[in-house]
Amino acid sequence: MKYHRISEIKNDEFLGKEIRVRGWVYRLRKQKDKSFIIIRDERGGIIQCVLPSARVPDLTIESSLEIQGILFKDERAKEGGYEIRGNDVKIYSIANNDFPIREYQSTELLLDYRHLTLRTRKMITIAKVRATILGVVRNWFIENDWMEVTAPTLVKSAVEGGSTLFPVKYFKDEAFLSQSAQLYLEALIFSLGPVWTIGPSFRAEKSRTLRHLAEYLHLEAEAPWISMTDLFSIQEKLLVYLVRNLTRERREELEFLNRDIQALNKITEPFDKLSYNQAINDLRSKDIKIQEGELLRKIEWGDDLNIDSEKILTKDRINPVFVYGYPLKVKPFYVKEDPEEQGIALTTDLLLPDGFGEVSSGGMREDNIDLLKSRIMSEGLDMNSYSWYLDLRRYGSVPHGGFGIGIERLVRWLANLEDIKECVLFPRTMARLEP
Ligand code: 4AD
Ligand code: MG
Repeated sequence: MKYHRISEIKNDEFLGKEIRVRGWVYRLRKQKDKSFIIIRDERGGIIQCVLPSARVPDLTIESSLEIQGILFKDERAKEGGYEIRGNDVKIYSIANNDFPIREYQSTELLLDYRHLTLRTRKMITIAKVRATILGVVRNWFIENDWMEVTAPTLVKSAVEGGSTLFPVKYFKDEAFLSQSAQLYLEALIFSLGPVWTIGPSFRAEKSRTLRHLAEYLHLEAEAPWISMTDLFSIQEKLLVYLVRNLTRERREELEFLNRDIQALNKITEPFDKLSYNQAINDLRSKDIKIQEGELLRKIEWGDDLNIDSEKILTKDRINPVFVYGYPLKVKPFYVKEDPEEQGIALTTDLLLPDGFGEVSSGGMREDNIDLLKSRIMSEGLDMNSYSWYLDLRRYGSVPHGGFGIGIERLVRWLANLEDIKECVLFPRTMARLEP
């Protein structure tokens, strides 16, 4: 007889039928004659099983077992009113009687035991939302004729500045863990057109924040002959498509996570576009301060936007908002300068509403070899490590651009989670390399 997924049998069609489920003991109550075993299966389905106590050996939480019985409906049954009246139990393994994941444990302990915390309902729900997000974005790229590619994670040079590079020993040489696949995607657009990738990016982030990981999943896209207008519209379409599909496919999970689905579904294209200048003026009018070393001073033109500024700019918004036209000096060497405005970069960051903040950065790339060389030089980077990248400007350079989205940042917003460590199954931070 085949096994049933619990999610599939909690359905009147199965009433009175012989059912076989397998999984782990989630809750347990043994009375003199009857035992109530709430069982969690491999996809997080939960159902109550009732068996004569004489047939039930000494069980512990998380023991693995298989139960065969008949499906009944019983209002008193915990977890949805269905119950299996079991007639046969097979034990796979009796768990040690000290399963460390219980209610009201500290966040740190839950992280230390993440390999076991993943069995909790919250983590299973987040994992499902995350999986659907990955599936939906892949579908969007397939439907819109972008080609999926992969890029190496062991690289020779920085993309996003030297301060967050992770060095690794590479035979007799030194390499780094990739911060972004962008430079490789730029190489691929010459033969593959619009391309996208999803893979890990690494940042040696030394600050502890609720939105930075040392390893995160990075979705990046790049295309030839694209414009800033295209870059706005591609990201708008992608995000709206994601929200519509996710809220349809994962309604129950989002509700469990207390995500206001209605608010989420209000997002529509186009999103507002705010120039960096407007953003700074707005922040200055609200007297926003930024930390400079020991000092707290008023934000001024030329400063990068920090999380506090992003919170203010996105407060009370329904849609995400683009901020474009940052000063060249706060952006990496590869960004293209606005030919019409000296010192201004043709870049755009997308900020999520309700203070969730930056989810993507992108823009046009410098396609002129001389300008690019002078940027590499003025940033103090080693020209030799970029010689292959410069070839892309030597042989048929074209205007092009793209963007990168942090998947955990997306999960954080869509699933309404505070801490980015909840948005990935096995988080990596400065303080955490295990499990
Ligand atoms: O803004 P970033 O650094 O931009 C780039 O890497 C570009 N090369 C992307 C491109 O144009 N192809 O990173 C892009 C996004 C950020 O907006 C953020 O969502 C996420 O990646 N991100 C992080 N997510 C989690 N932890 C970190 N430490 C992150 N750093 C960036
Ligand atoms: Mg950025």
